[in-house]
Amino acid sequence: MMRTVRRALGHARLVAKAALDQPALWRQKWFSAGQEYADRWAATPPTPNPTPAPAPNPLEAFFEARHQGPGIWKWRHYFDAYHRHLAPLRHRENLVVLEIGIYSGGSLDMWRDYFGPTLQLIGVDIAPACKSYERPGIKVLIGDQADRAFWRRAIADGTIPPVDVVIDDGGHTDEQQRNTLEELLPHLKPGGVYLCEDVHGADSSFSAYVAGLAQALHGGGRMQSNEGEPERRLVVPASGWQAAVHSVHVYPFVVAVEKRAAAVPELIASKHGTQWQPHLT
Ligand SMILES: C[S@@+](CC[C@H](N)C(=O)[O-])C[C@H]1O[C@@H](n2cnc3c(N)ncnc32)[C@H](O)[C@@H]1O
Repeated sequence: MMRTVRRALGHARLVAKAALDQPALWRQKWFSAGQEYADRWAATPPTPNPTPAPAPNPLEAFFEARHQGPGIWKWRHYFDAYHRHLAPLRHRENLVVLEIGIYSGGSLDMWRDYFGPTLQLIGVDIAPACKSYERPGIKVLIGDQADRAFWRRAIADGTIPPVDVVIDDGGHTDEQQRNTLEELLPHLKPGGVYLCEDVHGADSSFSAYVAGLAQALHGGGRMQSNEGEPERRLVVPASGWQAAVHSVHVYPFVVAVEKRAAAVPELIASKHGTQWQPHLT
């Protein structure tokens, strides 16, 4: 009798656990399907691009011209993504840009050239030798980007003012990337851009974390359907994340998160026009 009860309880526990795991399993299945689809593309030979290569963007031009002096080390395809996200901020007055990972100082020169002379540039590195790159307009902080207390102190005492652009090109471990994003994203100004370099490997934990950030943009509150109100035909109350974050972009090895210039309280689907097919209302 006891054995039957124990078995029944065990079975009930298993059923409850399976029910709990269901959304995770379902998500994992679709995630794997996406990866398999992308893998199948890998077997497709690339079609030659008939259009001529675009002229080098200013970041790329700066990099190409650097034959001597402080070194810059960048994946070449980053320049395209960077210029796409950063061009609207160029030459804005009193911009604050923070780069993690100084190494030999060349990328600090590149950012200064790109953003203009009023730029306030903050470089962060764990290596004390990088302090030597400090000069007017460039502040250098020595610290460990994985250390949340380091960021909190620097923000609390005003060493790091609200920032327009973050470029994480530091140690590139999952923990460093995540801790840095979580500490600095709230400190990014509205309209700001957060870039994280060197997210390597389809199995990178940080890459999975970023997929979570992107997926959260498809969430939000319960959708209201307002028949007879074409301007507000469908309305979803924005989550805090949707209200603050405009978009999450993924490129090979680099991620960009753009903050909204102004928070949106809700997401709205409007209908404009007078002629409609009858099969939808
Ligand atoms: C790839 S290099 C940066 C390259 C440079 N941004 C460029 O474009 O030429 C990485 C730098 O990150 C620094 N670094 C490594 N771990 C770090 C950590 N935990 N916190 C801060 N900086 C770190 C290293 O000392 C190194 O100088």
